[in-house]
Amino acid sequence: MTTSASSRSQKDKFTFGLWTVGWQARDPFGDATRAPLDPVEAVHKLSELGAYGVTFHDDDLIPFGSDDKARDACIARFQKALAETGMKVPMVTTNLFTHPVFKDGGFTSNDRSVRRYALRKVMRNLDLAAQLGAHTYVFWGGREGAEYDGSKCVQTALDRFREGMNLLTTYCKDKGYDLRFAIEPKPNEPRGDILLPTIGHALAFIDTLEHKEMVGLNPEVGHEQMAGLNFVHGIAQALWHKKLFHIDLNGQRGIKYDQDLVFGHGDLLNAFFLVDLLESAGYEGPRHFDYKPSRTEDYEGVWASAAANMRTYRLLRERAEKFRQDPEVQAARKASGWDELAQPTLGAGEDYKALLADKSAYEDFDADRVAQRGFAFVRLNQLAVDHLLGSR
Ligand code: GCO
Ligand code: MN
Ligand code: MN
Repeated sequence: MTTSASSRSQKDKFTFGLWTVGWQARDPFGDATRAPLDPVEAVHKLSELGAYGVTFHDDDLIPFGSDDKARDACIARFQKALAETGMKVPMVTTNLFTHPVFKDGGFTSNDRSVRRYALRKVMRNLDLAAQLGAHTYVFWGGREGAEYDGSKCVQTALDRFREGMNLLTTYCKDKGYDLRFAIEPKPNEPRGDILLPTIGHALAFIDTLEHKEMVGLNPEVGHEQMAGLNFVHGIAQALWHKKLFHIDLNGQRGIKYDQDLVFGHGDLLNAFFLVDLLESAGYEGPRHFDYKPSRTEDYEGVWASAAANMRTYRLLRERAEKFRQDPEVQAARKASGWDELAQPTLGAGEDYKALLADKSAYEDFDADRVAQRGFAFVRLNQLAVDHLLGSR
């Protein structure tokens, strides 16, 4: 690896799940359109394309049901590929959704033996995550949910979810693992309704956990957009709570099934403001692409789509920087009160008594006159569009 390539990928911290480029494109209506991809090949290819690292579910690397000998062999081959390329494994996660045993969930299955098995599966993989030097462990509860409101008591299911999370944070602390947990919300698919469906639900849940300082979020672009929510607003609130531990970047076009398109191939303007936010707020974690190369693509198309994610991110970062530095943008922001919002509503040392005593705030306040102010937000937004389209 050349020095410039390594410093560039270090700066970008672009990572990919093995399950993304390795997706064989089996969907509910059709068979796989691509042959299986060897994780070792994925590591080499992604490294050549300039990625910083890879992430995986236990079963992406070690086929479900492998014995210890086969498991060790899978891990050894993978570690060799990492050593050869310098690729990192910043995040690891567990598959608690593919095997039929998880059809009613892992941590919240009505079947207690499944819940105990799920916890053991996670603990085993936490050991591997720590061994590979990962710092984040993702929990996407894809099967934690229901199709029918009468299937389970949701409050009780949340008790079981919390019980599981508390046990696992305690396990990591006792083992001395340098790992933080990141919950990934999703509103539906594969379950009709998934528990912890949005960033907001997950934040409130985290606040009830025993080791809540260890638990944050891994929000995914498409998942919030599937719920009709604004991803930039969700990420801003996650940052505000200091809970943005990791992020899944991809593209989604509106409220429909989880498309997992290339980053920016959905709501491009929202992606522009997302990159602007991540870069300006000093988010230092990996830029993790959790997308699916479309079913129509062959392997050439798979690698082109992997490169497209990184290219889009870099282009948006470049445009966002220019947008921020543009004097006209700065002036437009000033005119629209962008800076004024940073000024606290009360003056220094002022309390509600002082506010009550301030006649200009109420008795003499001319609401009709103040209501005439235009905020010129449209002009500001058009400047963003101009920058995004490269015309400035
Ligand atoms: C999805 C999810 C998953 C998770 C991954 C991590 O497809 O809906 O995004 O890809 O991110 O399984 O556990
Ligand atoms: Mn998804
Ligand atoms: Mn994801």
